[in-house]
Amino acid sequence: MIVPGDYGTAVGERLFLYRSPQPALTASFADDVRAGLTAREKYLAPKYFYDSLGSALFEAICELPEYYLTRSETEILDRYAPEMLATLGGPVELVEFGSGSARKTRVVVAAALEAQDALTYHPIDISPSALVAASSALVGEFGRLTVSAYASDYVDVLANARLRTSARVLAMFLGSNIGNYEPEGAVELLRAMSASFKPGDGLLLGTDLKKDAAILERAYNDPTGVTAAFDKNVLARINRELGGGFDLDAFAFAARYDATRGSVDSFLIAQRGMSVPIAELGLDVRFSVAETIHTESSHKFSADDIAALAAQSGFRVVRAWTDDAERFAVSLLVVI
Ligand code: AVI
Repeated sequence: MIVPGDYGTAVGERLFLYRSPQPALTASFADDVRAGLTAREKYLAPKYFYDSLGSALFEAICELPEYYLTRSETEILDRYAPEMLATLGGPVELVEFGSGSARKTRVVVAAALEAQDALTYHPIDISPSALVAASSALVGEFGRLTVSAYASDYVDVLANARLRTSARVLAMFLGSNIGNYEPEGAVELLRAMSASFKPGDGLLLGTDLKKDAAILERAYNDPTGVTAAFDKNVLARINRELGGGFDLDAFAFAARYDATRGSVDSFLIAQRGMSVPIAELGLDVRFSVAETIHTESSHKFSADDIAALAAQSGFRVVRAWTDDAERFAVSLLVVI
């Protein structure tokens, strides 16, 4: 756990916060926007969706009737969290990569505290405000819980070995966030996780399952346009933070399932030819009509895909749980 005065700060009773230096993130946003918008096939990394407006839009996506992923995963955790903990065996410390509002985590915390006297939870999230709000609510609700929170990119936490755990770890990487990585990136990230844990430590991995293309595409092409607004927010963010001149109405949004890649790929599509200045980058970005910016890939998985991913990353799948409709899976991977 974080030792106060070492590299964490006590921000409340049983709540410690570590912050990574922010300037590096600002620099990488500018560099990544330049690289993506000067590439032959334009792209922007989905991690830049999540400023405070983007995070609020993502919360709204999770409530959409078409976006079943969050509800399916919640159904699984609500029903099986005690069984998941018993399968790994405790006592454990919990780690969560990309914890956000930690709404799904509550049920795992409650189940762990049924099985053991005290619990340390290490949430890692890029947004300090979301982290402090979610962590304060959890320590308020659970008297035997200590939270060591990391306001950082989880890649940075793993690369710099910042996690301080002592007991058996049960880590969580939920929401099918792993699907936003290309296959090589997913293996690299899970390898970094397994390398930072001990043999016998566990990872609960949430993955959206392969299914009918119409169901998958509907989850992203929602008729209310919330997902389109979420994607376009990255252009608004370039306008706000880098002095960009994007006209958001000049772009349409579309998501398509590519069955060969097993991924729903999202694009912003220029509705006319235009040139967009980005003052901070000293750049004019030219678009021809119908030219695309690739904004996100959301990979979908079969049971075999999950087993192969685990095997390449220093884990093995011990067990997997699905919702009644078998749309989503939460798998327990154990470090070998
Ligand atoms: C966070 N991630 C798993 C979501 C997904 O389904 O790929 C992000 C998202 N993009 C559009 N809707 C939701």
